[in-house]
Amino acid sequence: MSSGGDNEATTPTIEEVIRGRRTIHNFTTEVPPFEQIEKAIELASWAPNHRHTEPWRFHHLGPETISAVVDLNARLVAEKKGPAAGEAKRERWSTIPGWLVVTSALSPDDAELEKEDYAACCCAIQNLSLYLWSVGIGVKWTTGAVTRHPDFYRLLNVDPATRQTVGVLWYGYAANVAQQKRQPVGEILTRLP
Ligand SMILES: Cc1cc2nc3c(=O)[nH]c(=O)nc-3n(C[C@H](O)[C@H](O)[C@H](O)COP(=O)(O)O)c2cc1C
Repeated sequence: MSSGGDNEATTPTIEEVIRGRRTIHNFTTEVPPFEQIEKAIELASWAPNHRHTEPWRFHHLGPETISAVVDLNARLVAEKKGPAAGEAKRERWSTIPGWLVVTSALSPDDAELEKEDYAACCCAIQNLSLYLWSVGIGVKWTTGAVTRHPDFYRLLNVDPATRQTVGVLWYGYAANVAQQKRQPVGEILTRLP
C-alpha cells in the first residue's frame, strides 16, 4: 500500500508491494477512479503469455450489471440455503465499490494452450492486484459458484463456449486488512544436487 509522510508520498519497493498486498474483504464506500483501474488493466497485459495469445479480457461492471449479478447471486444462495441467506448476501454484495471480471480464452481442441492461457490470466491478475495495491487500492479475487453460472455469462455478454471466468475482482479502499502468514522458505524449497 502506498504510504505517505506528512506531505509527500513515498513509492513502495516491489518487495514491499508483494509482501504487503493482502486480499481485502471489507471496503470503504469510496469508489476508486476508473483511470487507475484502466492503468492496472494495461499493466496486467504485460504478464508472461507463452504463445502470445493475450487470452485475457477484462469486463468492468457498471451499476446495472452489478445489480443484476448481485440479484443472481442472491437467488442462487437463496435456492441453496434459504431466503434469509440470499438476502444477507445481497446486502453484503451491494456494498462492494468496484467490480471487474477477468475471462480467459477456451481452446477446446488444445488443452495445453487452454491451461497456459488460464495461467497467463492468473499472472495478469497478480500484476493488476500488485499495481493497485501500490497505489492504495485493495482487491479480492473471488471464484464463487455464481462466476460459472450460465446467467452470469449472459450478463457479461460472454459466450461460455469460447471463454471462462478466471475471477471476479472486487476492488476499493480497504476498511481493514487481514493478517496472513506464510511458511518459512525452508519448508517450500528443495535444493537438488
Ligand atoms: C484463484 C483464487 C480464488 C479465490 N477465491 C476466493 C473466494 O472465492 N473467496 C474468498 O474469500 N477469497 C478468495 N480468494 C482469496 C484467497 O482466499 C486469499 O488469496 C488467501 O486467503 C490468502 O490471502 P492473501 O491474498 O491476503 O495473501 C481467491 C484467491 C485465488 C488466487
